[in-house]
Amino acid sequence: MPLPKQIFIAVIGAGGVGRCFLNQLHHLASNLCQNPAAPTYLSLILLSTSKKLLHSPDYRSLHLGLWEEELAASGTPALSPTDLADYLANAPSKVVLVDNTSNQTLADAYPLFLKKGISIVTPNKKAFSSSYLLWKSIFSAAANGSGAGGYVFHESSVGAGLPVICTLKELVETGDEVRKIEGVFSGTMSFLFNSFMPVGGGGGSFSAEVKRAKELGYTEPDPRDDLNGLDVARKLTILARLAGLEVESPTSFPVQSLIPKELEGCKSGDEFLERLSEFDGKMEKLKKEAVTEGKVVRFVGSVDVAKKDVKVGLEKFDVSHPIAALKGSDNIISFYTKRYGDNPLIIQGAGAGGEVTAMGVTGDLIKVLRLLH
Ligand SMILES: NC(=O)c1ccc[n+]([C@@H]2O[C@H](COP(=O)([O-])OP(=O)(O)OC[C@H]3O[C@@H](n4cnc5c(N)ncnc54)[C@H](OP(=O)(O)O)[C@@H]3O)[C@@H](O)[C@H]2O)c1
Ligand SMILES: *[C@@H]1O[C@H](CO)[C@@H](O)[C@H](O)[C@H]1NC(C)=O
Ligand SMILES: *[C@@H]1O[C@H](CO)[C@@H](O)[C@H](O)[C@H]1NC(C)=O
Ligand SMILES: *[C@@H]1O[C@H](CO)[C@@H](O)[C@H](O)[C@H]1NC(C)=O
Repeated sequence: MPLPKQIFIAVIGAGGVGRCFLNQLHHLASNLCQNPAAPTYLSLILLSTSKKLLHSPDYRSLHLGLWEEELAASGTPALSPTDLADYLANAPSKVVLVDNTSNQTLADAYPLFLKKGISIVTPNKKAFSSSYLLWKSIFSAAANGSGAGGYVFHESSVGAGLPVICTLKELVETGDEVRKIEGVFSGTMSFLFNSFMPVGGGGGSFSAEVKRAKELGYTEPDPRDDLNGLDVARKLTILARLAGLEVESPTSFPVQSLIPKELEGCKSGDEFLERLSEFDGKMEKLKKEAVTEGKVVRFVGSVDVAKKDVKVGLEKFDVSHPIAALKGSDNIISFYTKRYGDNPLIIQGAGAGGEVTAMGVTGDLIKVLRLLH
């Protein structure tokens, strides 16, 4: 009988996604330890937010059912990335680090973690969409058959739990020729434009729809963080790189911001929302134009691989196009490839939310567990 396997898990971030992930981890850990053929023991050895830390110097397991109370009661501050790497590298079993933050400093430390043999699963886009140099150092530090590095998976960094990254990797690795990737990559932008300009007519003014989306919790606390297009640009950077393009950064290609120039200097998100209606005329004009052409306006991103062209912004789509038919805050991603010809491979569904994003993270964790012996 094979020896039981023990894997240590360290979780950074306990927000919307982290919280759901911890629940899923609890479920996964109870299942895996009961596998009679090859039991695996998953131990949560560290849990941290930006202000509080739970861990023990001797790598004792934390209680997966009580983390919330114990974390709230902790008086220990978070570790720096370097101290965290040292603590995890000295653990007596293999470690998987789950980064549930959107912190750049932590992302910059990924090569350090990986070189020390620590594996990483994360929905954090920053590591994979900042400089091309960071991208290269992450993947050269990661395990690749020869080195001793950890494994790294980031399915939820694009399209939350939707199988976008694994599908693209498989297309590339099996030798298909990816020609174009196009889609709606932001749940916020999806919701906003599906309500601003639904197929069949209707919809309120642009500023009213932005306010409504914020009230319903579909935007970041400051809606400018969605409207500037950077989140979509980060996702396109990741996909373009996986398709083989050396994209330098998410600002090295055209990204249309929906923040009017005149409002770039607003001191707060509230002041911005107050004044946004002054600019409704421009969006209304675009809407009318689209109506006369039998089209709708949507905020999309695309990668044209042959032309090395990446862009993000508003485009018009025929009302019969799958992008026009999107509902709610769903994402849609179309892969145009040599094998799929004129009918692209399309992935569609919820592209945000704690549970589905956490599923992508938990799925990545399962992949790493299979690879760690
Ligand atoms: N929610 C979604 O639908 C979704 C979808 C796709 C991808 N993502 C990505 O998933 C990640 C997490 O999203 P979320 O919605 O869970 O965010 P969130 O609710 O803001 O939670 C972030 C968590 O990270 C912690 N944190 C931030 N900086 C830290 C640091 N330096 N050290 C330790 N902990 C730190 C925060 O701690 P404090 O509470 O102490 O600040 C908080 O617990 C982000 O990268 C996001 O872009 C989210
Ligand atoms: C980590 O992130 C995933 C996806 O964003 C989320 O489902 C999970 O709950 C998070 N885990 C923790 C411990 O914060
Ligand atoms: C990211 O985390 C580091 C410590 O890990 C902290 O010093 C820094 O302020 C954080 N950055 C942001 C933008 O929250
Ligand atoms: C494989 O890993 C080694 C050592 O970690 C690294 O030097 C090398 O560049 C990697 N090779 C590839 C193809 O990523």
